[in-house]
Amino acid sequence: MTPAMKNENTDHEIEHTFDAYDEVLRPPPDHTDFDGVLDRAMTRRRFLGGGVAFSTAAFIMGTTALTPLSSRASERLAFDPLKTSTADTVTVPDGFRWHVVASWGDPLWSDAAPFDHESRGIGETQERAFGDNNDGMSFFSDQGRHYLVINNEYVNRSIMFGNRDSNLPESADDIRKGKAGHGVTVMEISIADGRWSPVIDSPKNRRITADTPMDITGPARGHELLKTAADRHGTRVLGTFNNCGNGTTPWGTYLTCEENFNGYFSSSDEDIDIGPAFYRYGIGKRDRGYNWAMTDDRFDIAKHPNEPNRFGYVVEFDPMDPTLTPKKRTALGRFKHENAELVVNADGRVVVYLGDDERGEFLYRFVSAAKFAPGESNVDILDDGVLYVAKFNDDMSGECRALTPETTGMASQAEICIHTRQAASAVGATTMDRPEWVAAHPDRAEIYCALTNNKNRGKKPNRGGDPTPAGGPNPRDNNRYGQIVRWRPTGEDHTSDTFQWDLFVLAGNPTVHDDADAGSENIHAGNMFNSPDGLRFDSQGYLWIQTDGKYSNKGDFAGMGNNQMLVGDPGSGDIRRFMVGPNGCEITGLTWSGDNKTMFVGIQHPGERGNSHFPGGGNSVPRSSVIAITRDDGGEMG
Ligand code: FEO
Ligand code: CA
Ligand code: CA
Ligand code: CA
Repeated sequence: MTPAMKNENTDHEIEHTFDAYDEVLRPPPDHTDFDGVLDRAMTRRRFLGGGVAFSTAAFIMGTTALTPLSSRASERLAFDPLKTSTADTVTVPDGFRWHVVASWGDPLWSDAAPFDHESRGIGETQERAFGDNNDGMSFFSDQGRHYLVINNEYVNRSIMFGNRDSNLPESADDIRKGKAGHGVTVMEISIADGRWSPVIDSPKNRRITADTPMDITGPARGHELLKTAADRHGTRVLGTFNNCGNGTTPWGTYLTCEENFNGYFSSSDEDIDIGPAFYRYGIGKRDRGYNWAMTDDRFDIAKHPNEPNRFGYVVEFDPMDPTLTPKKRTALGRFKHENAELVVNADGRVVVYLGDDERGEFLYRFVSAAKFAPGESNVDILDDGVLYVAKFNDDMSGECRALTPETTGMASQAEICIHTRQAASAVGATTMDRPEWVAAHPDRAEIYCALTNNKNRGKKPNRGGDPTPAGGPNPRDNNRYGQIVRWRPTGEDHTSDTFQWDLFVLAGNPTVHDDADAGSENIHAGNMFNSPDGLRFDSQGYLWIQTDGKYSNKGDFAGMGNNQMLVGDPGSGDIRRFMVGPNGCEITGLTWSGDNKTMFVGIQHPGERGNSHFPGGGNSVPRSSVIAITRDDGGEMG
C-alpha cells in the first residue's frame, strides 16, 4: 500500500460516515462572510417570531401555504405504535411478522459457495452473491414471476475485512471482493409458506458491479471531460458504485443513483493540485479506505484525472433484459444523488425530483422534452430535457430555476451536466440540510423531501462558498435532528416554475429540549426520531419515513433507540412508529409486493460499530439484509 493510498482511519476502529469523512479529509471553509451572518440572524428572528414557541410557528403544518387535505381513511395500518427499542433485532407491532429474504453474501447461483462467516467471502464468491449494504430497491413482476432489484451502496470495511487487524482490503482479491460488493443486485424471489426467498439460478439473477460496462448518454456524452485513456470517445464507462436511493419508470426500467462516488478516488502523487472542480465534489488525494487504485489505475486521479467525472450520475437499466447495457443519464446532472422520484405530469412530460446529499447542497428537478407514450418504448426520454434547481423563499414560496448556458454562464449543457453543483450555485439555489429521499404523493401534486441533518447550518458555507444561514425550510442552526419539507407546484403542474412549501415535520427531542430542538407539534415522546432519510408513499397516500440517525440513545438522542421506520399521515400530520431495527443499522429501502401483502424493508449495516449479530445471532457476522413484513391475518400492507 503506498502512503497515498493509505487510509487515515487505519488506526481507528470506527469508520466515519461518508459525510463525516468528507468533513475530516476535505473540510469546507470555516466561516461564512459577515453579510451571511447578518442575514442568518434576521432570518431567524423572522421565523421564530420574537419568542413565540417554535413548535407553534406558522410555517409548520397546516398553514396558509399548504392547507391540510384529509387522507383516505385506512383500517389497514391501524396498529399500536411501537415503543423505542435497543434490542439487536427487528421489532414490529402486534399483528405483524417479519422474516429475512436475503443477506449480504447469500449466493444467487448454485455453483457459488454459501456465505462463510470465517472468511467473509472472496472475490469470486462475492461476484455471484447478493452485494453488501442494501439500499434503495423496487419490486418487479413479469409473466407471473417476481423480482427484487436492490442497490448495494457500499461495503462495510470493518465487517467485510474485519477478520484481519487492519480492517482494510489488503490483497488484489480483497479489492475484487470489495468492488463486487457494490452496485446492484437483480434477483428473482418466490414465496412459499408465507416466506419469500431468492430463486437460485434464475436466468434473471444478475450482479451489476463497479466493473460492469455502461454507456454514457445525454448532453455530456463524448465531452472532453469524460474522455480517458481507456475510453477516448467519452461514451463508455466501467461500473457504478455507491448506489444509494433508486427510482422506477413507467416504461419498466430501474434507476440507480450514484452518491458518494468521490470516496473511491485517490492520488499516487502527493503534490497533485486538487482544483476547485474536484474540491466541490470532495475528490482528493485519499480515498475512503477502499484502496481500489491498488489494482485499478483508473481510480488514481494522478494518472486518470477525468475518471471521477464519469461518476455521480443516475443510471437506468432494464432489469428484465440483461442483454441491454445500462445507461448513465447525464441529463439528470452530476452530484451525490440520493434517489430519483419520477412522476408523469398531466401533460405527459416526465418529471424527476433529485436530491444532492451533502451539507449545503441542493434539490433538483428534471423536466423531459418528450412526452411519455404508454405502450411505446420511451427508451431515451431521460436524455433530453431541462434540469432545474430549487430556490426556497422565506415567505413560503419557491421557484425552480433552469440550469442552461444562459442562466449559469457555463459554456454548454454538457458542462452543466458534469459540473452541476457549480451551475446551481451560479443561479442562486437554496443551500439545503442534506437532501435525502424525495417522494411524490400518489394522488396529488405534492412532493416531500427528507432533509436529514446539517451540523454546518449557520456555521459554514458549502464547498462552493455559498453561505448557509438558517432560514426557510432549513430553520435551525447546527441542525441535529432533520426535517421533512414538502411543496406543491403552482396549478398542480409538476413543470410549473413556482411552488408553495411548508414543513411536514421538524424532528426533535421534546424530552430533552423545550426550544426549536423539541421539534414540531406532531413530535412527542412516543414517536420521536432523528435524521429522516428514506421516504416513500404507499398506495393509500401514507408517507413512510426511514431513519439514518444517531442511535446512542443518550443526550440529545435519549429515548430514540435504534434507527426506525415510521408512517405519517400527510393530512393530519400524525406520525406513528411502525418498526425498529437492530443495533447499529440504518433503515433504508422500501417496496411492496404487487399484491400489497408484503412490505420489503432494508436493514443496512447492522453492527457497523461492532455491536450486532443480526440476523444470524450467536457469534455470527452482522449482515445487511432485506426483510419482508406481512400481517398475521394475511391482509394488505398499505
Ligand atoms: Fe446513501 Fe444520502 O444516503
Ligand atoms: Ca440515504
Ligand atoms: Ca443518510
Ligand atoms: Ca447508508
